[in-house]
Amino acid sequence: MRSSMFRSAQTALRSRVSRSFSSESSPDRKVAVLGAAGGIGQPLALLMKLNPLVSKLALYDIAGTPGVAADVSHINTRSEVAGYMGEDQLGQALEGSDVVIIPAGVPRKPGMTRDDLFNINAGIVKSLCTAIAKYCPNALVNMISNPVNSTVPIAAEIFKKAGTYDEKKLFGVTTLDVVRAKTFYAGKANVPVNEINVPVVGGHAGITILPLFSQAMPKSNALSDEDIKALTKRTQEGGTEVVEAKAGKGSATLSMAYAGAVFANACLKGLNGVPDIVECSYVQSSITELPFFASKVRLGKNGVEEVLGLGSLSDYEKEGLEKLIPDLKASIEKGIKFAKEN
Ligand code: 2OP
Repeated sequence: MRSSMFRSAQTALRSRVSRSFSSESSPDRKVAVLGAAGGIGQPLALLMKLNPLVSKLALYDIAGTPGVAADVSHINTRSEVAGYMGEDQLGQALEGSDVVIIPAGVPRKPGMTRDDLFNINAGIVKSLCTAIAKYCPNALVNMISNPVNSTVPIAAEIFKKAGTYDEKKLFGVTTLDVVRAKTFYAGKANVPVNEINVPVVGGHAGITILPLFSQAMPKSNALSDEDIKALTKRTQEGGTEVVEAKAGKGSATLSMAYAGAVFANACLKGLNGVPDIVECSYVQSSITELPFFASKVRLGKNGVEEVLGLGSLSDYEKEGLEKLIPDLKASIEKGIKFAKEN
């Protein structure tokens, strides 16, 4: 009796509001979203609820998650949704997770760079990653919190300190750069947007975002060098375009949630053994002199199966690559230094 009362109290506490429907054929997979009540977190929670590969969806934030979980849970899809609120419930949210997506933190305001978020978001990422190391050390971690160029190295250091680091399982989500490159390229080249592929390499801030339009498929001969330069700049400044348009009300949330959901879906497919899942991501890498770098990555049952090379670059892209290295290097070093000193 006591234990059943305890169980039902726990159930209420976690706002467990829907049941899993067991008729699906894909394996059970738990996904946790950390920062689920925020601007990215809410639409991301919705999109993950729509994903049939997810059997359990844990929505964690410091406040607001019971409401988000109750809302999303009414959608008649496979996953069982639970809301977890406050640090006391972080462990429960994480336990048993296969994929943890982290959009937690503060967004940019006009005039700010992603690096201006470092002081607040670095601490948030540090405490979330400390909990991941404790409660779900084998999960794939999808880092969205900015500055991604630094938060991924911070996460790696936290996991190393905890003795749980597996470089195959830590990803900076750069999918929004790919999404933007595809959209902008399709608009300019007048090719069907749903058929486009454009790799984007480097990092996830300003000039460290390097779209490789020379490798865009399908190819378009309609674009001049000036067009390619303008498309590159627009892709690099895509986040800032949204920050300015939102005029103080934050940064990209809807397109970021979409990109986060695309990348998490790729991770889940890889875990489930679907072959040939390739996405760009910012991972531990040896394809340049830098310890972390975004490029095409083949995903598999253990996370990163293979970090793919850059392929052949145009002279303009080679120049871009050279220019971004010092910038990205500084962001990586800043993250490592923070993690070592805090
Ligand atoms: C962006 O690129 C939020 O970093 C994100 O807009």
